[in-house]
Amino acid sequence: MKILITGSNGQLGKELVNQLKLINRSMNQPKYTILATTRDDLDISNQINVDNFIVYNKPNIVINCAAYTKVDACEDNIEIAYKINALGARNLAVASEKVNAKLVHISTDYVFNGFSKYPYIEDNKTEPKSVYGKSKLMGEKFVEQFSHKYFILRTAWLYGDGNNFVKTMIRLSKGNKEINVVDDQFGSPTSTVDLAEVIIRIMETEHYGVYHATCEGECSWYDFAKEIFELKNIDVKVNPIKSKDFKCKAQRPLYSVLDNFMLKLIGLNSFRRWEESIEEYLKEYSISEN
Ligand SMILES: NC(=O)c1ccc[n+]([C@@H]2O[C@H](COP(=O)([O-])OP(=O)(O)OC[C@H]3O[C@@H](n4cnc5c(N)ncnc54)[C@H](OP(=O)(O)O)[C@@H]3O)[C@@H](O)[C@H]2O)c1
Repeated sequence: MKILITGSNGQLGKELVNQLKLINRSMNQPKYTILATTRDDLDISNQINVDNFIVYNKPNIVINCAAYTKVDACEDNIEIAYKINALGARNLAVASEKVNAKLVHISTDYVFNGFSKYPYIEDNKTEPKSVYGKSKLMGEKFVEQFSHKYFILRTAWLYGDGNNFVKTMIRLSKGNKEINVVDDQFGSPTSTVDLAEVIIRIMETEHYGVYHATCEGECSWYDFAKEIFELKNIDVKVNPIKSKDFKCKAQRPLYSVLDNFMLKLIGLNSFRRWEESIEEYLKEYSISEN
């Protein structure tokens, strides 16, 4: 089975490649031919290149891990955000359809406005408040429009091998005795390990559609920071602050907890609770630090 991964240098792309290679190694004959592409090999915003690459290589499954994920920078670079997050998804959907490939596309909790008091399920009304969220929602719509065999997985608060909140907190703790973290935004921290496992399981099914795909449970960024420092035994004071006092360009949803309702219905919700996944991640992170 030939699998094309875009954005394979990103957090999720790296983890997927790792897990697919591990599966290959565990078998007599490798199960997957992995085409791991970075932006340099395959810029998803270039329609002609995407078409040529996919038509030539004929993957069975395309997994789109590429995105413009700098949420605040999207507000200033609107065209770049839409070119990558919306047109990039469209290019992959159109080309995948030509070779009858399944398309796994990753989206975000930022497609919601964040005003809910309950976890969002897949058919709740979308209303993104940031350029990032709007461009990702347009990407979802293109995928639905141009691909017949798609899985859209909306995830949130992702951490893995790359830049993320966890690493930022640990870095900040090194030069500061106190750190201010917002306590009025709620979500579900999600490990790329858990997400990649679900992607690999769902991609071989025909359960096409839109899915919420986050670790179980919810917390605020403040709770998350406290948990990280406790697990790492780092002595730093965390001060709870409000979003209105933490100035950033993009408006973030205050409550973007996702219910993996559809994954539960098809019996593929293997996500752990967020506390369990972060504990495992931090054990491995301490190894890579030394
Ligand atoms: N991170 C989160 O908290 C979060 C939350 C919700 C949803 N998501 C979604 O989850 C997915 C994976 O996120 P992630 O955290 O793994 O992102 P990431 O670490 O930022 O990786 C994104 C990758 O996409 C590449 N890329 C950017 N523009 C590209 C282009 N035009 N063509 C090809 N590759 C391009 C980047 O390469 P360069 O480094 O060269 O730019 C990078 O390697 C994305 O769809 C994201 O929207 C992420």
